[in-house]
Amino acid sequence: MTAITIQQHILQEQQRFPGASGEFSFLLSGITLATKMIQAKVRRAGLTDILGDADNENIQGEMQQKLDIYSNECLIQSLSSRPSVGILASEEDEQPLVMPHQSVTAKYAVVFDPLDGSSNIDVNVSVGTTFSIFRRPEGADFEDPTRWVLQPGRRQIAAGYVVYGSSTVMVYTCGNGVHGFTLDPAVGAFVLSHENIQMPEQGNYYSVNEAYMDDFPEHYGAFIASLRQGLNGHSYSSRYIGSMVADFHRTLLRGGVFMYPPTKTHQYGKLRLLYEANPIAMIAEQAGGLATDGTQRILDIQPKGIHQRTPLLVGSQFEINEFEKRLNQ
Ligand code: AHG
Ligand code: MN
Ligand code: MN
Repeated sequence: MTAITIQQHILQEQQRFPGASGEFSFLLSGITLATKMIQAKVRRAGLTDILGDADNENIQGEMQQKLDIYSNECLIQSLSSRPSVGILASEEDEQPLVMPHQSVTAKYAVVFDPLDGSSNIDVNVSVGTTFSIFRRPEGADFEDPTRWVLQPGRRQIAAGYVVYGSSTVMVYTCGNGVHGFTLDPAVGAFVLSHENIQMPEQGNYYSVNEAYMDDFPEHYGAFIASLRQGLNGHSYSSRYIGSMVADFHRTLLRGGVFMYPPTKTHQYGKLRLLYEANPIAMIAEQAGGLATDGTQRILDIQPKGIHQRTPLLVGSQFEINEFEKRLNQ
């Protein structure tokens, strides 16, 4: 049996880009290296002093966990040594980070949520990392780093996530389908395990924090009620982990819908557009699914701020279309 590693796969993908120089695969190898370091720490959580709060709040006013900070550092360190990367933006840093090399030839900006679902770490539940890559916009310089990243999601040239679950899986797209790789811990390589993933057209699960149900807009309530009754001959069960990456990973493989709706107190929900909704939306669409903020396609939203939030509904075509029917009633 020949195993295809993520490195090989990326090199093949890169050949589709005219004039590809190897830079892009070197960039992605920075992400795989960092996520291997993160997973090694996650796997030893409880054995080393890495669980718990770091006694510090991030820009969202959320308590940072020690693993949030460690994961952020892993990504920053390994991407800083890639000359093709000019700007990084992270959930954990208020402002975008300008790479010290300030190379005029730097072509890419990378945005990421280093550790998603971090409140779940201390109780041994799956967590993840999400990332999204943009090309440097024409004329953008290091004086105005936000310009590099405030681009609509349809301009992402690659996006992905890693889920640190019962195994460690990386899922990515470069705009040519969605591919999943499982980390083989014995050799330390991500190996192709899910080629050309297609989301089922309809699923059997819906995933939402139902504790906030009374605070959702009415049409969300109507939609959830119809799922509970069953649609198109499918009956539904609910699944909600509280780690978006893990909830989405199940939705990608099994179909159905994951949503984080607006609430009375949070009119844009909780999830962040740039480094949570956008990469998930690109992957969903590349796998034949859909992603909306309730009124428009996630990938068409023009971001105004790095940490901007957005409601998110993502999943199979059937469920998202059913939601949209109720919106227009
Ligand atoms: P993060 O740990 O990066 O701040 O993200 C946590 C997010 C997301 O993963 C999940 O879907 C959501 O928080 C769960 O929020 P609720 O507890 O409000 O349902
Ligand atoms: Mn997150
Ligand atoms: Mn996070």
